Amino acid sequence: MYSEKVMDHFMNPRNVGEIENPSGTGIVGNPKCGDIMQMFLQIEDNVITDVKFKTFGCGAAIATSSMATEMVKGKTIEEALKLTNKAVAEALDGLPPVKMHCSLLAEQALKEALEDYFTKNNIPLPEGFTKPNVEEDED
Ligand code: FES
Repeated sequence: MYSEKVMDHFMNPRNVGEIENPSGTGIVGNPKCGDIMQMFLQIEDNVITDVKFKTFGCGAAIATSSMATEMVKGKTIEEALKLTNKAVAEALDGLPPVKMHCSLLAEQALKEALEDYFTKNNIPLPEGFTKPNVEEDED
């Protein structure tokens, strides 16, 4: 049911933990399943130099969180803003359809963390800034 990559990131998640005094942090909970994810970003000169996460959730949520952190580490804010849950799922060689909603946790937590960074630094939200809303996801 799960790809080898999903199993690998679930069994050996990358970038687990937290960052003290992060540049930005975001926490998201899915009220339907009760799973929670928090993401921490260290940002220097517009580049995400470090990223950590803590996920209390299902295997798919842990695997997508892990893959999402790998995909944004070392990237600019502009590049990180383009990350979608679908791209993360594709990088994991797919997720079962009933588990796609789990990948939204990672995308939303990343965008919440970036929004926190913008707010803390009085940076206007980039044009077209959107974030998924796990609570409104219907599947
Ligand atoms: Fe809750 Fe996967 S079942 S995030």
